[in-house]
Amino acid sequence: LDSSSIVVNGVSHKTDEWTNIRPGILSLVGRNLHKQPNHPIGILRGLIESRFEGLGYTFYNDFEPAVSVHDNFDVLGFPEDHPGRSKSDTYYINKNTVLRTHTSAHEPYCFRDCKTPGYFISGDVYRKDEIDQTHYPVFHQLEGGRIWSKNDSDNSVITQIQNDIDGLPKIDILVEDDNLVYDAQINPKQSHMSDKETELVTTHLKRTIEILVDQVFSEAKKAAKESGLSGSSYDEPLRVRWLTDKFPWTAPSWQIEVWWNGRWLECCGCGIVKREVLLQSGIENSIGWAFGIGLDRIAMLLFGIPDIRVFWSQDERFTKQFSESKISIFKPYSKYPGTTRDISFWLPEDSTNIDSVHENDVMEVVREIAGDIAESVKLIDEFSHPKSGRKSQCYRVNYQSMDRSLTNDEINVLHEKVRKELEELHPIELR
Ligand code: PHE
Repeated sequence: LDSSSIVVNGVSHKTDEWTNIRPGILSLVGRNLHKQPNHPIGILRGLIESRFEGLGYTFYNDFEPAVSVHDNFDVLGFPEDHPGRSKSDTYYINKNTVLRTHTSAHEPYCFRDCKTPGYFISGDVYRKDEIDQTHYPVFHQLEGGRIWSKNDSDNSVITQIQNDIDGLPKIDILVEDDNLVYDAQINPKQSHMSDKETELVTTHLKRTIEILVDQVFSEAKKAAKESGLSGSSYDEPLRVRWLTDKFPWTAPSWQIEVWWNGRWLECCGCGIVKREVLLQSGIENSIGWAFGIGLDRIAMLLFGIPDIRVFWSQDERFTKQFSESKISIFKPYSKYPGTTRDISFWLPEDSTNIDSVHENDVMEVVREIAGDIAESVKLIDEFSHPKSGRKSQCYRVNYQSMDRSLTNDEINVLHEKVRKELEELHPIELR
């Protein structure tokens, strides 16, 4: 492998000063958990798709995770200084290509390509993040979109959308705070759409997402009952609420939350697609919506999976537990003790310097060296030297394998490598 290129899923890409993908991440590209019929992520995707069969959707599950910066950010209207574009948040293959940070990167293609009024996309998405039981640098999203054309001479767009709303399956669900009418101040509608158009697209969008969450959580209730689990949400009708949200390519925008065992669970961002995005996709005179839902955290709750790393396990005690189209509760097969080690260091004098160390940089180094043996990393202490003003940080790493016990010697070796690598890559001074 020549050092000026990297191979992502069999395709060679030139590297440059933007490249920040290390081998550990590359080895996860192509695992395609969302396409495995017996994996919780694949099962969840399948369950959702099955509910929308026959309702005018095309299912795209094969898009490559390497996408252009243009598709991931520019077309969708992310401002130049949006934090999501930074090298400490996003994996750059090179200046112009990233590992997609969301499946929305494929929206314009789908709007253009799709022969049905709507589509679903599923895929693995990549973000630099903390290390703990619910964060992993790869997770999965399911995206949906639907548009209506105003060029249809037989039916007005109002009649078309109203007919589609009337055709939606009826469900039994408790909807709170359904502020159907956008808020002119904080969540304004688009000026090219009439009030009636906005209201109808919103209704179709919200009812569609409610059907989606109803499908998922009804299956989860069945599974919990079969396993004899008790939880406050298992016997009541599903409760959801709508909150205002913000995305660069939708207006207005919302988030749905689902009440699940005593707390509101953030589920799915959505909104009415901005006109510019449709125009850039070559779609004129149309209106429509889009949503995106993260699959991993929902799958963890529904399947009772305590740690997100479990999804990546290739241990048969995990991979043989689940079967197609069915939610069942995870049976833990072992719990090995963890061991913590601390790392303390001085930050560079000028810690506003762009070369300074971001929390995610520490996470990256630990990930790369310890892989899935790193259960969590926490910043546990931070102080400034009273005289010099220099800042010191201390991180605590918990090393814990899901599949076996670790020896002290093994952990010491790993931890020493983490320290060395941090010192080598960043202008810090180990303490
Ligand atoms: N891509 C958004 C996210 O990752 C979700 C979203 C999709 C929001 C489509 C609006 C429309 O959070």
